[in-house]
Amino acid sequence: MCGIIGYIGSRKTTEVLLKGLYALEYRGYDSAGVAITDNKDLEIIRSVGRVSKLEEKIEKEKKVNSTFGIAHTRWATNGEANEKNAHPHKIGKVTLVHNGIIENADLIKEKLINEGYKFNSDTDSEVAAALLDKYLKENDTLEAIDKMTKDLTGSFAFGIIIDGENRLYALRKDSPLLIGVGEKENFLASDITAIISYTPKYVLLDVGEVAVLEDSSLKFYKEGKEIEKEILVSDSKGVDHSKNGYDHYMLKEIMEEPVVIKRLIERYNEEENRKELDLSEYKEIDIVACGSAMYAGLVGQNLLEEFAEIKVNVYPASEYRYKKKIYNTKTLVILVSQSGETADTIAAMREAQKLGIDTLGIVNNPDSTIARETSRKILTNAGVEIAVATTKAYILQVCVLAMMAFVSGEKKGLVKEDFSIFSELPKLIKEVQDRVEEYKKIAKDIYKKESCFFIGRGLDYALCMEGSLKLKEVSYLHSEAYQAGELKHGTISLVEEGMPVLCIITNKELKDKSISNLKETEARGAKGIVITTKDLDDFDEYEKIVVPESSQYIVSMLIVPALQLLSYYVALNRGCDIDKPRNLAKSVTVE
Ligand code: G6P
Repeated sequence: MCGIIGYIGSRKTTEVLLKGLYALEYRGYDSAGVAITDNKDLEIIRSVGRVSKLEEKIEKEKKVNSTFGIAHTRWATNGEANEKNAHPHKIGKVTLVHNGIIENADLIKEKLINEGYKFNSDTDSEVAAALLDKYLKENDTLEAIDKMTKDLTGSFAFGIIIDGENRLYALRKDSPLLIGVGEKENFLASDITAIISYTPKYVLLDVGEVAVLEDSSLKFYKEGKEIEKEILVSDSKGVDHSKNGYDHYMLKEIMEEPVVIKRLIERYNEEENRKELDLSEYKEIDIVACGSAMYAGLVGQNLLEEFAEIKVNVYPASEYRYKKKIYNTKTLVILVSQSGETADTIAAMREAQKLGIDTLGIVNNPDSTIARETSRKILTNAGVEIAVATTKAYILQVCVLAMMAFVSGEKKGLVKEDFSIFSELPKLIKEVQDRVEEYKKIAKDIYKKESCFFIGRGLDYALCMEGSLKLKEVSYLHSEAYQAGELKHGTISLVEEGMPVLCIITNKELKDKSISNLKETEARGAKGIVITTKDLDDFDEYEKIVVPESSQYIVSMLIVPALQLLSYYVALNRGCDIDKPRNLAKSVTVE
């Protein structure tokens, strides 16, 4: 989702800004732009599409020998993805970039139009620029910024240039923004990856605080008064942009799964560290997350209920934050998030905290809001994911939840196996990944279809949800996941001649039930495909994916890479932009 970078210092401004934008690309965007200035002339260059297109445009058009500037990648919310809606926006003396959504923009815009302001875009961001410009006519800059902030509802992070001022301003509410601290240079950025190659030092802005960045000075204000802020140091290694010989980041990241899972498990091979995973004291758990992270939660729900006998509810964060919460005295709220910056998940966390409920974050980004603000956290440590569709971070979320089910069940005396079963995973996942030819073959058979179903029961249904999401997000092939037994209650009417129905079967007890449901679809023309484990495989009449036999605690993590690779090859056959699927953002920082 929208990314912001700003720079003031003696380096080449456009170089720093473009490097930052490239680093923020992974968040997902559909247009980009820069505003650069030498404090006399200000130039705005914007383009639809990739940062590389913006770079070409800058090379052709740039005239100003700039000393500071701001830049932005936009993921369209208010107004379509075209050049006039791309940021930065300039109204009067104010040029700004914005991440977030201003909810009362229409109301403010109407008033400003009556006062004579003219707008060039459909964005809410331009309204903020006009509002600030209006306040600047009667106030000094800090007062004007405070007044603008008080008028706006919704979420925002801004990077601002004011004509005639040799400095940058930064402020935020709900949307992420940090200030990078350098030697005779300063930065502002949506996340540390955009500036880590220049400085690991950063300051987090709180709501109501304003940062004023000059090349040799960095000041922070709250309600007009200067305040001290703590300088933090990130140990982020930044983004590794190499593809390691793979054609796409998605494929590279899938193939990294054995390594990252090994690293995670090694930490918990130490018995002492396993205490972090013990949830046996809780009577009820709400798992709250979005997208794939929520589907990891669904797998976790099945495992925690089955093996640790803890009641678990799973909610999309966008619903959870506004629903009536009925907490037990022993409720835990688990927030699952790769980025740790998903707006709804953060809001849900804060809601629970306000009510005094324990929270636990399963987070990939160690510098993120959720990682900082949950009372308890487990870092998945997958490293940065560049492909928009999550793969390695998702499997680690599942792995953490599976280990939690194991450790909590063990504490309650419900487990017969040994924790060492988890150590088999890297080797088994590698075996699954090595069967690439099988995924390619099935992908060839289904890529021309218009629609398909994933069906399964229990844990297998949870895996269907993510399998189906992955397929549709990267290949644009319409897909639905259904509980195998529920399909016949309406949705089976969609089954047509030749429609692929992928049936996941990893549980011996549910095998016959699921296969009967698959046959119901085949009787109506569907083409059944079975995804199962070696011990359950007697499906020679089917096209199939067979993963190694394993314990129920870890089997889900063998199905996951198979489904991810299948989606990858379907998308490849369909000629999709695999690493940056249309309309998607990696980090969703608005509601
Ligand atoms: C976006 C991404 C998904 C991700 C979801 C939750 O929609 O495209 O891949 O699962 O956000 O993100 P989070 O960072 O909270 O895991």
